Amino acid sequence: YTSVIPFKEEEQDFTLPNTLESLRKQAMECHLCELSKSRHKVVFGEGDMNADILFIGEGPGTMEDSSGKPFVGRSGELLTKMIENVLNISRDDVYITNIVKCRPPNNATPTPAQAHTCQPYLMKQIELIQPKLIVTLGATAYHYLTGDDTEISKVRGVIHKQNNYTIIPTYHPSYLLRNPSAKKEVFDDLLKVKDLMEK
Ligand code: URA
Repeated sequence: YTSVIPFKEEEQDFTLPNTLESLRKQAMECHLCELSKSRHKVVFGEGDMNADILFIGEGPGTMEDSSGKPFVGRSGELLTKMIENVLNISRDDVYITNIVKCRPPNNATPTPAQAHTCQPYLMKQIELIQPKLIVTLGATAYHYLTGDDTEISKVRGVIHKQNNYTIIPTYHPSYLLRNPSAKKEVFDDLLKVKDLMEK
């Protein structure tokens, strides 16, 4: 997972680091897929390393690519409001990341190969953070995390158990910007999240 360490057989270590900070450093130097050629910054993720709730989006957009932070554009503002106003917690209390850590040019949906190449980073993030709940934002995040390609409108708000993790899919905030009437459904999904967290 590194391209910077010269090849010395006895020193090769292909396992990913066991702290979020060293994992982040490793991801910063990742060149495993073509997205590394066009990205400005790797968007590893941010938030509480011991968060109970992990939000997973699709991939960085323009603003995220230039700032290195997830969900800072218009959809990020909406996500922050949803966290604060519905869950009644601060954005800093959750952890937010994406399926792919580098921006797909023209904001394209990450390809299966890109998502697959980036998957070990996400899996390791989940293992290290050990969230009680994972909220996937949009069809792409849900599909790549679970392998289930049921329509998002049918699975949103439905608890999906996988490897001891509880996943709740909901709509992506950018979908809400285009379809404000779906906010009601996301509100319901987040109330479910809140309810589960209080139990
Ligand atoms: N959309 C995403 O899916 N992720 C981001 O970080 C920003 C916008």
